[in-house]
Amino acid sequence: MIVDDTIWDLLGSCSFNAHVHDDDIDPRFADNMIIAWPPILKLIQSTYPPNKNVRVLDYGCGTGGFCKKLHTVGYSVVGIDSSKGMIKTAKHHSASDISYFLGDYAVLPSLGKFQIIVTIMTLPFIDNLREVLRIFSNAILPGGLLIIVDFNKEWIKECLKIPVYFSDFNSIDDPTFGMMTHENCKTPVYIRDIHDYDQLMISNNIEKILHIHPPFTKEFIHKYPNYKPVHISEYLILGYKKH
Ligand SMILES: C[S@@+](CC[C@H](N)C(=O)[O-])C[C@H]1O[C@@H](n2cnc3c(N)ncnc32)[C@H](O)[C@@H]1O
Repeated sequence: MIVDDTIWDLLGSCSFNAHVHDDDIDPRFADNMIIAWPPILKLIQSTYPPNKNVRVLDYGCGTGGFCKKLHTVGYSVVGIDSSKGMIKTAKHHSASDISYFLGDYAVLPSLGKFQIIVTIMTLPFIDNLREVLRIFSNAILPGGLLIIVDFNKEWIKECLKIPVYFSDFNSIDDPTFGMMTHENCKTPVYIRDIHDYDQLMISNNIEKILHIHPPFTKEFIHKYPNYKPVHISEYLILGYKKH
């Protein structure tokens, strides 16, 4: 069993590779694409119509699937990820004017300001939520957006009943910390809820403008009939606007 950051290097070359044929996309990446991307894009495009003067950061960009989407729509895009393997794959498959950086939130202050920061299923793997949110809020221009996609705690509870994808949790009724498992790999995962975010955001001068749990779509369920549980949303999607 591998328990460290190399899990992301491994997943970048298989399950989380966004650049394979449609039929080969793993459900653990396809769920982000099919269920989480549409409401995020809707919020981004309705706040900032596509324009190359609008800088968007995808924090924890993985293999760059969403960076490519944002670039195609018409934004100026930066991706950061702490996995060498993910960044290598992202660069290999992306246009040269998408900027990718290997590192964590410590590199952010050196990259200037952004109109939008989006982070999709990356904060669950970061322990110091207070610090990362503080750095995000400093990096967003006034009027700018922070969009967060995290696990829905209720979905995690259902997973622990089956049990799938997770192990070693501190509680079944109120899980806040455990391990995410994939084949022979494990990585620590932190489960937050809306109150954890709201409390921390108050001190960052940021107002909540979106709070949704998008359901699994018919398209996803039809394409991935073995993916369980699907009766409850996997995601918590939050949108914040900086004053
Ligand atoms: C579940 S994947 C999500 C990737 C991508 N956002 C997507 O939706 O496909 C989590 C990503 O977070 C990255 N990651 C984990 N800890 C990180 C950190 N401290 N800073 C930046 N990226 C991190 C991993 O390398 C991985 O690419």
